[in-house]
Amino acid sequence: PLVPLSDSFGRTVTYLRVSVTDRCDLRCTYCMSEHTSFMPKCELLTLEELDRLVSAFVDLGVRKLRVTGGEPLVRRGIMTFFRAMGRHVRSGALKELTLTTNGTLLARHAAELADCGVKRVNVSLDTLDPAKYGRITRWGRLENVLGGIAAAQAAGLRVKINTVALRGFNEDELFRLVDWCADRGCDLTFIEVMPMGEFGVEDRLAQFWPLSALRAELETRYRLADMALSTGGPASYVRVAETGQTIGFIRPLSHNFCATCNRVRLSCRGELYTCLGTEGSSDLRPALRDGEAGLGLYAAIQAALRLKPAGHAFGYLAGGVQGAMARGMNHTGG
Ligand code: GTP
Ligand code: 5AD
Ligand code: SF4
Repeated sequence: PLVPLSDSFGRTVTYLRVSVTDRCDLRCTYCMSEHTSFMPKCELLTLEELDRLVSAFVDLGVRKLRVTGGEPLVRRGIMTFFRAMGRHVRSGALKELTLTTNGTLLARHAAELADCGVKRVNVSLDTLDPAKYGRITRWGRLENVLGGIAAAQAAGLRVKINTVALRGFNEDELFRLVDWCADRGCDLTFIEVMPMGEFGVEDRLAQFWPLSALRAELETRYRLADMALSTGGPASYVRVAETGQTIGFIRPLSHNFCATCNRVRLSCRGELYTCLGTEGSSDLRPALRDGEAGLGLYAAIQAALRLKPAGHAFGYLAGGVQGAMARGMNHTGG
């Protein structure tokens, strides 16, 4: 019998995030530079390799799989992968199959995703203003995302909006975003901007809008009740008494949730990152490709898991950014 995945701090890993491509059709300014370079496509795991690798994690007790990127829906043939993962949903091995997407291609794929066993999707949306959306994503069109969200809901998918809280960018839209989500029955999660990627960290410091401040502002208009709800992700949730909606807060910088971390990340070329916020990964390709998959691969995954650190290193301390990371979020899937 296979031993469930656990690390050297006694945490059990049941949540795998897999970045199926580092490419994206947008260039959000906090995520990538305009002329970012991507991995040569020959380095990517094939869809068949991704299937075998992810399935090994499922054998080892992963119960939640989130497909990410880059933008997962730009990966060619990605629906073949979703269909393959659907078998783990049907067998009951996976309790949740889901994705995080920028939504631009969601209209095209929503119905098929639902058919594969996806029940909810997280869609990144930082503003409801078309001009601002064009600026933050560098060239994205808001209407594509809004169409994607509508199509997802029409296909029966629950939608959660992910909004990166950015001082001087979407502070003025706080209530509009909350009301827009309430009107459509979308959940909403705010995220603190993390010091990752190719940019000077000064920018990030200026943009940093602590969610404690955002929450205080929300409370000038709404009554918020803390909820015990957990999705297995890092967010803490409140219920808004007036609208009944759920709002999540992801605060990697001002609230450390590492002690109960249950997740690891796979890059699209088969590296296992055991923490979003620290350097270092294990290459699972040799074990995946040496032919005797089975135990060799399981053992490689178990060994990699033992390297999971206690927590990420970044934070805003004494007014400065600590532990900034050059590795982009698109590499490890956020
Ligand atoms: P659900 O709770 O299932 O809805 O998803 P999630 O919040 O785990 O996933 P999502 O892809 O929506 O992630 C939202 C944000 O949380 C992303 O910006 C991630 O980078 C961030 N995040 C997720 N896990 C971690 C983590 O372990 N550490 C840090 N620092 N950030 C994380
Ligand atoms: N800090 C915080 N969130 C980020 N995302 C991308 N880059 C960053 C960053 N530097 C968010 C995206 C998406 C999620 C997967 O990660 O907006 O919602
Ligand atoms: Fe693409 Fe998401 Fe990065 Fe924006 S945040 S550039 S949508 S991967």
